[in-house]
Amino acid sequence: MPRSFLYEVPPTAGLPPRFGDLLPSATPTLSARAAQFLGVDEVQVECSGTAALVVALTALKRQSHRTSVIVPAYTCPLVAIAVAHCGLKLRLCDLVPDGIDMDDLQLDALCDEDTLAIVPTHLAGRVADVDAAITCARRVDACVIEDAAQALGARFADGSAVGTRGDIGFFSLAVGKGLTTFEGGLLVARDAALRRELRRVSEEIIPRSFAWELKRSVQLLGYHALYNPFGLKFVHGDPRRRALRNGDLIGAVGDDFSLAIPLHTLGTWRQSIGAHAFARLGEFQHECFRRAQSRIAQLLVKNRAKSDVLLDHFGHGTWPFLLVLMPSEAARDAALARLWSTNLGVSRLFIHALPDYAYLADIVPQADVPNARDFAARMLTISNSPWLDDAGFERICRVLENTTA
Ligand SMILES: Cc1ncc(COP(=O)(O)O)c(C=O)c1O
Repeated sequence: MPRSFLYEVPPTAGLPPRFGDLLPSATPTLSARAAQFLGVDEVQVECSGTAALVVALTALKRQSHRTSVIVPAYTCPLVAIAVAHCGLKLRLCDLVPDGIDMDDLQLDALCDEDTLAIVPTHLAGRVADVDAAITCARRVDACVIEDAAQALGARFADGSAVGTRGDIGFFSLAVGKGLTTFEGGLLVARDAALRRELRRVSEEIIPRSFAWELKRSVQLLGYHALYNPFGLKFVHGDPRRRALRNGDLIGAVGDDFSLAIPLHTLGTWRQSIGAHAFARLGEFQHECFRRAQSRIAQLLVKNRAKSDVLLDHFGHGTWPFLLVLMPSEAARDAALARLWSTNLGVSRLFIHALPDYAYLADIVPQADVPNARDFAARMLTISNSPWLDDAGFERICRVLENTTA
């Protein structure tokens, strides 16, 4: 439990690794396991969610003269970096108030004959409104790429997996995303001809790299050794506290991405580790769901801070963490002043709306996106890791209750 200063709760509920995952054995491939889990015919494995998006955008770009990609104004900076990498134009759509979805009216207004793709995003494990994006996309003959990087295992109300309703979908297997190969990505597409094209593009633009595979394999071994409440203090908690002491919020959450995207294949050993882990994912996510439901109830019952927890309107998401919206930026900052540097797994998702990252200024257009900025300003996250025990969660609830700013 997180009373000891030698204990760290991770900010997201990663699937705890097992030594047996590292051993070679005759198991279905990662691609086959993922296809079975998602209920689709085929899954393409890439070295990251970003690489999967690069492959998808490259394939679409080759079939069209269109150049614009519409994304939510609050999303992972890597999405903007992937769009720029492909030589495409980013167009930002504001969010609905207090939610992860793109504003319907603005999305409709942004869509035109230059729109190559719309990227509805299942942020924080929540299920996004993909149908609204599909309606806009069909009007202008654009494609829908579901960004399910943070939502492997989430389902629409009809039971189908998120990522499988748009033309293309992708998932991340990066550290912190549940099942991980340290870095990794999965790519799916509804149409068989498009799937063939995605494979062709991948074979053409994604090289093998022994150096990258070696580096990632060592990192994955380190992850297996240290992804536990004791190891995490040294590799995650202490560096985060150091960044916070230095006022480096972007560094504290790891939003400081390189503009150069590593593109290489994902080696067979790391794939077999991911394939082993898939066998435990469903049960683990079920436990996460039950814990999240009971903790949301606990948080909202005592809700003197008038905070809101993001819930699902379009299906059943996954619960790597609870995303909490506080009544004001001042209230959020007051709560974080007491919680962020503790070992309780309280943090923030992306620090800014996309136009507000100085280091992205050359690739992200300025845009009036008040709801995305408000979302970034009022949100905090509470880990749903099994290592956050009831006493730790109760402590967090008390701080939120007593935050009156
Ligand atoms: C919403 C979103 N999209 C895309 C990505 C990129 O995925 P990856 O880190 O696997 O490259 C991430 C990763 O954090 C993400 O959160």
